[in-house]
Amino acid sequence: MKKILAAYDGSKEAGKAVQTAISLAREFGSSLTVIAVIPEPYLAELVELDRIRILDTLSNDAKSALARLKQQAAGITSVKTLIKFGSPAAEILDAAAKMKASLIVTGSHGRHGAQRFLMGSVASKIVDNAPCSVLVVK
Ligand SMILES: Nc1ncnc2c1ncn2[C@@H]1O[C@H](COP(=O)(O)OP(=O)(O)O)[C@@H](O)[C@H]1O
Ligand SMILES: [Mg+2]
Repeated sequence: MKKILAAYDGSKEAGKAVQTAISLAREFGSSLTVIAVIPEPYLAELVELDRIRILDTLSNDAKSALARLKQQAAGITSVKTLIKFGSPAAEILDAAAKMKASLIVTGSHGRHGAQRFLMGSVASKIVDNAPCSVLVVK
């Protein structure tokens, strides 16, 4: 298991997924990449300045969250963080293909889970379309 990709959306569940990914990377000497995807604001009526402000705030939040996680992963062979903009599942799958990940780790739910008994839509798209194995942490 050479390369692990963990997906982080700021939720408690994703935090658990990243902790599991860190343990696996320690155990197997894998490199670890943690990715956060910032969804494009979809409100059509947003003016450009608001759009830029929202994206700016979200990316600063993601940056500091990823920096904290990186500290927790100290001692691992290689830890990288990645921030992307766009559709979360598509960006995570694209990153996995580009880095030739051997494993993707996600939470079963994220920030928008209303139906707790179903797997989240991002997690299930990843399970369905991943080019490698997927670990869905519960
Ligand atoms: N924007 C995102 N960036 C990175 N990872 C994400 C993102 N959205 C979801 N994930 C990953 O997918 C997992 C499940 O979230 P999701 O499928 O979106 O469920 P929900 O519908 O409850 O939000 C999260 O715990 C996280 O690992
Ligand atoms: Mg979600």
